[in-house]
Amino acid sequence: MKTLLQLNASLFSGGGESSRLAATYVAQWRAANPGARVIARDLASHPVPHLTAETFLALLAKPEERSPAQREAVALSDALIAELEAADVIVLGLPMYNYGVPSTLKAYFDHVARAGRTFRYTDKGPQGQLAGKKAVVLATRGGMHAGTPRDTETAYVREFLGFIGIRDVEFIFAEGLALGENAKASSLASAHRAIEAAAAERDEEAAIAA
Ligand SMILES: Cc1cc2nc3c(=O)[nH]c(=O)nc-3n(C[C@H](O)[C@H](O)[C@H](O)COP(=O)(O)O)c2cc1C
Repeated sequence: MKTLLQLNASLFSGGGESSRLAATYVAQWRAANPGARVIARDLASHPVPHLTAETFLALLAKPEERSPAQREAVALSDALIAELEAADVIVLGLPMYNYGVPSTLKAYFDHVARAGRTFRYTDKGPQGQLAGKKAVVLATRGGMHAGTPRDTETAYVREFLGFIGIRDVEFIFAEGLALGENAKASSLASAHRAIEAAAAERDEEAAIAA
């Protein structure tokens, strides 16, 4: 069964602009994939804790060497990775907060970057283990940053996903959301058009593959 994982990183949970764009993408994907499974993970209402030394060492330790608290921490990492492994498509709602990705997303990334699980060290360098997946990122910002050095998010998220093996990553931006009602409306309309175009492209690919 096809599976989509929706990750919302907005501090406003489902009410954030990025979450709402992600939800629009997911609704279109669901319509094109009836009966498919959608897993939703909201990083604001269910934040992943900061990575601590205790957790990091737990991830490296043998199962029988872990304390009860460490076993709990590893169980969370295992559950997050299982969701990624199950997903064919990952849809990420990605706001910009204070010139970077939400700290909740960084904490999530810190729990899914696991040597031996999501990447392996080889003699050719690290090799991502989550191959054959697509990620779609709905990136929202108050200002205009894409294509400038202020956009600290795009290269970072693309690099991180690539590191764990997710190389097919598409970004859809809604920028200038704090630049007045007109700018906001036009930016969101353009993001919706990009979502529709992505859906049309997906349907075309599916028709060719069938
Ligand atoms: C705490 C906070 C920090 C923000 N920092 C930035 C920023 O550094 N640059 C920017 O362009 N917009 C910034 N914004 C605006 C958000 O990127 C914008 O409101 C976006 O819609 C947030 O996505 P969301 O609605 O999904 O949470 C910030 C908003 C908040 C609430």
